[in-house]
Amino acid sequence: MNWQTRVTEILNIRFPIIQGGLAYLAYSELAAAVSNAGGLGQITAMSLGKPNQLREEIRKVKQLTNKPFGVNFAIGQQGRPFADFLQVAIDEQVPVVSMTGGNPAPIFEQLKGTPIKKLVLVAARRQAVKAEELGADAVMVVGQEGGGHLGRDDVGTMVLIPQVVDAVSIPVIASGGIGDGRGLMAALSLGAEGIEMGTRFIATKECVHASELYKKTLVEGTEAGTVVIKKALGTPARALANSWTEKILEIEKNQGDYEQLKDFISGRANKRYIYDGAAEEGFAWAGQVMGLINDIPTVKGLFERMINEAQQIRAKWGN
Ligand SMILES: Cc1cc2nc3c(=O)[nH]c(=O)nc-3n(C[C@H](O)[C@H](O)[C@H](O)COP(=O)(O)O)c2cc1C
Repeated sequence: MNWQTRVTEILNIRFPIIQGGLAYLAYSELAAAVSNAGGLGQITAMSLGKPNQLREEIRKVKQLTNKPFGVNFAIGQQGRPFADFLQVAIDEQVPVVSMTGGNPAPIFEQLKGTPIKKLVLVAARRQAVKAEELGADAVMVVGQEGGGHLGRDDVGTMVLIPQVVDAVSIPVIASGGIGDGRGLMAALSLGAEGIEMGTRFIATKECVHASELYKKTLVEGTEAGTVVIKKALGTPARALANSWTEKILEIEKNQGDYEQLKDFISGRANKRYIYDGAAEEGFAWAGQVMGLINDIPTVKGLFERMINEAQQIRAKWGN
């Protein structure tokens, strides 16, 4: 069956499925597995300490796959300078750069004159319009169901995607709450030409850095097992609900400021959960799609199942 869309054409991939940037979790093994399965895998640049480490990670991906892959930049992250990291991606001639979390203009400026495809992850219609104006090749749009950082307007994927499809002429990639072939087909029905998944890819064999506890929680947890933290800071983000996020919400409720919150929302606290499996001494990002995750397949197995489910739906619609 033909899965060609403008997204597969631009990115030169077989299936319109993109693995989102995953802070501290998206390294060469996962990126290469997704690209080898026919999607677009990505490594997350700013999780790496130094630009040279990014170079090594990019080279590892190239050893593991000859398919296109991306490097993701979460540019809002503690205001860390990204230019040196981006230069590594340019020097290594990565096929795709994706970005989120801040004004993408400086990244576009630095990428000028390179053949690198530019994807911008946004959470609102106005940001999608801006991304198109700047010259994005496609825009990824994440709804409120998603894991990690979200928009401030609390709008779900189902409403956001068609709105953005109507507002821009570049292809739209739907994100937030997608975890199976039904989600893929729903996104395409809304006018998206591809999907991005984050949480679903954490519960795979090749997400080798995620602790067993994290994966087990994604399998056993329900759609109601997440909470949105950091609203008080103007940067809402969805995480697994636990006693740690309860403390965060309590501080936010009492008008706590960044100073009071910073140790609770730090990268260190994140790593304690996702790497060490310290269930109540840290936090982990996750989306509501957790309610649809029931196993820990290989990435290849996940792709085969999703495409199979989607094909069954297409066959049913054809009648
Ligand atoms: C653990 C985790 C870490 C994330 N880190 C990043 C990141 O570094 N950069 C980024 O662009 N998006 C990041 N995201 C967002 C995802 O790329 C994706 O947009 C989101 O997970 C989609 O929603 P879903 O979880 O329902 O699939 C992260 C999401 C999760 C769950």
